[in-house]
Amino acid sequence: MRNKKKICLYEEINKIVDSLLESKPALELVTIYSNFSVLLKDKIDGVSWAGFYILSPIKNGLYLGPFSGPLACNYIDINNGVCGACARDKKTKIIQDVSQIPYHIACDSLSRSEIVIPLFINNTLVGVLDLDSHKLSNFDEIDREYLELIAKKIETYCKAKYNQ
Ligand code: SME
Repeated sequence: MRNKKKICLYEEINKIVDSLLESKPALELVTIYSNFSVLLKDKIDGVSWAGFYILSPIKNGLYLGPFSGPLACNYIDINNGVCGACARDKKTKIIQDVSQIPYHIACDSLSRSEIVIPLFINNTLVGVLDLDSHKLSNFDEIDREYLELIAKKIETYCKAKYNQ
């Protein structure tokens, strides 16, 4: 039942994602990141923070991009944090209990669980999408599937916009 509700919610989110990406004139990445942060934080149950960290072209780390939620770390070294682990492995990280992860960075002391999705453009890592929750085990395989789909939609959008 819980899964059915979550899937319905993500289907609704996906329609909004599609309609945002159809906006004219064509969107800049920062605009997409800004509206998607608010969309994901507002719509997904239990999300306390949603936002983007961007891979620095000159430093070995991630700097804070658009987000919705409390103030967050300005910069995360690639060797630190769940975001750094996601960027290094280029794989989604689902953390059911952040207190069990010694390298987790607590921007918000109330955070209990987290999901981080890698973002690619032209198969190159450009950043990560990070969602936090004050609830333990708030994220699962359904979140992974739909958030990875949203990341794919951003990549496809950028391909069409910049590679023509
Ligand atoms: N918890 C993240 C840091 C970013 S904040 O959650 C917004 C991490 O461990 O990388």
